[in-house]
Amino acid sequence: MFGAATAAYQIEGAWDADGKGESIWDRLTHTGPKIIEDKTNGDIAADSYRKYKRDVEMVREMSLDTYRFSISWPRILPTGMPNDINPAGIAYYNNLINELLKYNITPMVTLYHWDLPQKLQDLGGFANPLISDWFADYARIVFQTFGDRVKHFITFNEPPQICQTSDMMSSFNTSEGREQFVNATNIVNYLCAKNLLVAHGNAYRIYDKEFRAKQGGQCGFTINIDWYGAHSNSSEDQKAAEMAWQGDWGLYTEPILSALGGFPKEFAERVAKKSAEQGFTRSRLPEFTEEEKTFLRGSADFLGVNHYSGVLVSATVNKKHNHVPSKADDVDVGIIIPKEWQRSADNETTLCPNSLYNVLYQLQSRYNNPIPIYITETGWATTEESKLDDDDRVKYYRAQLEDVLDALDAGVNLKGFIAWSLMDNFEWIRGYTLRFGLYHIDFQDPARTRTPKKSAFVYKHIVNNRYIDH
Ligand code: NOJ
Repeated sequence: MFGAATAAYQIEGAWDADGKGESIWDRLTHTGPKIIEDKTNGDIAADSYRKYKRDVEMVREMSLDTYRFSISWPRILPTGMPNDINPAGIAYYNNLINELLKYNITPMVTLYHWDLPQKLQDLGGFANPLISDWFADYARIVFQTFGDRVKHFITFNEPPQICQTSDMMSSFNTSEGREQFVNATNIVNYLCAKNLLVAHGNAYRIYDKEFRAKQGGQCGFTINIDWYGAHSNSSEDQKAAEMAWQGDWGLYTEPILSALGGFPKEFAERVAKKSAEQGFTRSRLPEFTEEEKTFLRGSADFLGVNHYSGVLVSATVNKKHNHVPSKADDVDVGIIIPKEWQRSADNETTLCPNSLYNVLYQLQSRYNNPIPIYITETGWATTEESKLDDDDRVKYYRAQLEDVLDALDAGVNLKGFIAWSLMDNFEWIRGYTLRFGLYHIDFQDPARTRTPKKSAFVYKHIVNNRYIDH
């Protein structure tokens, strides 16, 4: 399956139309500190709430098999709670799904792509263990309403990203001291990870027990998996690379895909040791009970992989080789990005040779050729300057697709490739300064006209010919 992806807040606009509730991104962009690079917001974005038919037409223009989009939780449940369903929200997604099916395009639906109802954030958001019940209620409504036609559900998009920034939404207005405490201890990150995993497990088990038999679909989980390669063959660097992935995306793959269950073993041991040294009486990384481990093990019919890039990891943390600080300080390793790897416009993501192949191969070997894998996102950032001539994006996609062929040759159980993104959109704190679209949008243009870039034509050609020509 070939496809393209989007997410509700990044494209829909209509932030308060027809009964939609406020999301944390509405709140942040309207009243938070001005952290959005170009001081914009998603109030109108690509206006997909009104232009969804054109969106579907674009998917058809590229001959794609699938469109991955997300449902806005507060558009369906304005308060986040199940007693208050917004019929206009249901109607919008029904229309979109029906339009896709009319043209034989498979809808792939993400339930949570970062736009939490603000009312739930007010109750603690992902730091409140009750999030797992709130999410379960929401998921049941989504399965019940759309599952007769949608056969691919994804519970969460990029949990590491959600949890490593989960305090962001509430901590902006609080003291620096609190932020430092939270960041230094990773308390919210780890608490969020556990709560989110249980929320995912709840939704999966609900799908499995209540809907699978009559609907015959699948429910998976999308994790952002970048490549952490060892900088050298030394056992120290190898261990450092191991720690880096375990403390990042491994927090989510291990509980679901490993035979042992629970958080990654070596990483958990390291946090426990560090916590003791710091004077905590228990590990800052919460544990799972045996019952929770069993509940989560195997709780996905497929794994969605969002893959953008990779880095090299060294055991030595110093200023050599362009070191950048690692995400979680419990990981405590040096990150190296070689100068010769081309950087995208976000200045972070690089064209890291074979990183996609490497992660697919790693997942296959670590989890013994697990459940089917879909690449649910991969993409390259440019700026508005390059407009329709996005040669670097073309180069990037060709490289990713070469990796896909190699992965298939190596026996990876890969079922789909989905590009990020169908069109230019609101790139979170980078606003509209970064462009990921196969289709261009001029955000000054009230009509939000969509125009295919060079990459859209190349992608279409590859999809139609099932052949990568250079
Ligand atoms: C991953 C996220 O899922 C998506 O929302 C974002 O726009 C892309 N990465 C590009 O940064």
